[in-house]
Amino acid sequence: MKQKVILTHKYRDEGIEELKENFNLIIVEGSGRSLMETLKEHSDAVALISFLSDPIKKEHMDALPNLKIIANYAVGYNNIDVAYAKSKNILVTNTPDILTDASADLTFTLILAACRRIVEADAYVRAGKFTGWGANLLLGKELRGATLGIIGMGRIGTAVAIRALGFGMNVIYYNRSRKEHLEKQYGFKYVTFDQLVREADVVSPHIPGSPEVHHLFNKETFDKMKPDAVFINLARGGIMDEAALADKLEKKELFAAGLDVYELEPKVHEKLMKLDNVVMAPHIGSATFTARLGMAKMTIANIKQTLAGQTPQNLVPECR
Ligand code: DGY
Repeated sequence: MKQKVILTHKYRDEGIEELKENFNLIIVEGSGRSLMETLKEHSDAVALISFLSDPIKKEHMDALPNLKIIANYAVGYNNIDVAYAKSKNILVTNTPDILTDASADLTFTLILAACRRIVEADAYVRAGKFTGWGANLLLGKELRGATLGIIGMGRIGTAVAIRALGFGMNVIYYNRSRKEHLEKQYGFKYVTFDQLVREADVVSPHIPGSPEVHHLFNKETFDKMKPDAVFINLARGGIMDEAALADKLEKKELFAAGLDVYELEPKVHEKLMKLDNVVMAPHIGSATFTARLGMAKMTIANIKQTLAGQTPQNLVPECR
């Protein structure tokens, strides 16, 4: 008999087909039942595939006494109570690597869009305001010679930094540990967090969300940044105080921001909604056909390996 796997939301069809071939698949989305109702009804499930928007807490795990693995369909897993999972011998996996390029590309999309005011420019043309070439029309910032500050030189931070070299940017970074091989190979410079926020023209954090970094970017941090700096956030909304950011942007004490994530997703601070100098995307960092299919396949591989008694390929460090 096929073992039961619960998928919280639908993902790529190819992934769903593969799940159906291998398991007794229960999909919560579209079933008319809440996640908790589904878990209680299918308490014999051995695997749960969750999205980053699904908080997976103690009560969810307690509802599935046979649960062996939570395969998160995301690289970030701050939506899961990993400590509790570990205490119950439930493995937690994520989807690293496969979405690195998609996320780094979107980071650069936001950097360019914010620096060259692309959303404003598009709205200007659509509103029929384009009546002729103007010497002072929608002036923006160039990247050549500008300094990119990366906080968190992991896979995505490094991929963004390498892309920056192609634009002629200087890269400074702050990370828990120094990456001397990257400094030697690419000329990246290690600085303190304080130095980074003061010196960078573009500040781009690529760190996991956690209570320790909640509001790392608050009024005090934004005040240290250059008044014409650009702030990018493709990491997690909780690392920034959205009200403080909106305030700085409104007062034009920062040049612009490019955001893909929000503090209270899917809600966006109402002040940000009214500002021209912020470019916003709906958490689509990994939203490419390639990445999303690869992520689906990774969740399936992790489940198969776990149920076969192997260590899954993408076990998160806290569970190792
Ligand atoms: C992730 O996978 O954690 C990213 O936020 C997706 O965009």
